[in-house]
Amino acid sequence: MKPVRAGMVGLGTIHAIHAEAFKPDAKGEAGQVESEKYPPREISAVFDIDAGLRAKRAVELSCTAHDSYESMVNDPEIDVIDITLPHALHYEFARKALDHGKHVLVEKPMAPLSDQCRDLIEIARRNELVFTVAENTRFVHAYKEVKRLLDEGVIGVPRLVRTFISGSEVVRLRDTSLWKGRIDGTVGGAIMDAGPHSFYLLKWLFGSISQLRASQYKLVDESEVEDHAIVSGTLDNGTIFSSEFTFTAEMPWNERLEVYGSEGTIVVDQLSNPPMVIYNGELDFYGTRHIAVPYDPIWWKGSSIVAGVHDFLGAVSGNRPVTVDPGDGCYAVEIVEAAYRSCSSNGQVVFIQ
Ligand SMILES: NC(=O)c1ccc[n+]([C@@H]2O[C@H](COP(=O)([O-])OP(=O)(O)OC[C@H]3O[C@@H](n4cnc5c(N)ncnc54)[C@H](O)[C@@H]3O)[C@@H](O)[C@H]2O)c1
Repeated sequence: MKPVRAGMVGLGTIHAIHAEAFKPDAKGEAGQVESEKYPPREISAVFDIDAGLRAKRAVELSCTAHDSYESMVNDPEIDVIDITLPHALHYEFARKALDHGKHVLVEKPMAPLSDQCRDLIEIARRNELVFTVAENTRFVHAYKEVKRLLDEGVIGVPRLVRTFISGSEVVRLRDTSLWKGRIDGTVGGAIMDAGPHSFYLLKWLFGSISQLRASQYKLVDESEVEDHAIVSGTLDNGTIFSSEFTFTAEMPWNERLEVYGSEGTIVVDQLSNPPMVIYNGELDFYGTRHIAVPYDPIWWKGSSIVAGVHDFLGAVSGNRPVTVDPGDGCYAVEIVEAAYRSCSSNGQVVFIQ
């Protein structure tokens, strides 16, 4: 079978994890080696605005270094472009790749504006190309287990859901030469950056949001964007939700999900051992350790990113849909926009159409 050949653009932090997915012994979902499950694949070329970095990565990955994006999208040796760039560049770079007949995987947010997301989805459909956002949330082992247990009715009807994404970006936010704290690089702060993960998760597990209100805070003076935000409201099915994001927690990156149902509660905390516990009622003090989800504080997220890249490459070579529906990536950005509308009107309720 012919390998799927990738061009990678934006060779920073998260690119390194995307690149892992191309190794034969890459550990994807639940830390399992997935080489047999997914197609042969190779990194054919790289591009970054930083000439030293692209030359270095080309040597490390034994591939071509392009000296412009133009030359990369015109390279006939490339089937797919994997975009791991600052948010403000997602639309322009994804569009150019799709216009040149390349399949595209783009990091979250799919694009900073939902109109741009819709445009990209339409171009991909017209050109019969595989396109989606690298929404690793869909491949987090614990969340897949939560989905299965909810479908089995293990905790009854969900009444309340809380999500929390925490970690530290303080050093990068303070560095005014980097894009993380600059509005022209991020097009938003914690809501734009972390929000898509939680809004995608809510939609996948519970359905659409009907209304929300949001507030944002900025603790890092040097930064132009919010580093903490709270978005809360209700879902179409009546469940209450609350999503919180902080970039000022001095601890490893973590995600929590708490689902409170009519017959029990599921708590996921990626840094706790075990990361997933199920409680059944007020006397269940110890809960049940859900051992199907391994304790993996270091690679729980990496494995989900690798699995997402594998899934995308599988769709390119296997003529089947990607697991992450691009429409849901666009939906997450619509909720980001609604949350910012609420922030800019002092936390007024925004109804989602
Ligand atoms: N899925 C996740 O959990 C996760 C985690 C971290 C980052 N991300 C996403 O990945 C993307 C990249 O984030 P990062 O933390 O890796 O950023 P980064 O700053 O570490 O890397 C960005 C790279 O893009 C390059 N670049 C900037 N402008 C360029 C241009 N015009 N042309 C070519 N290259 C250019 C930079 O030189 C840098 O190497 C963002 O969309 C971010 O939200 C996702």
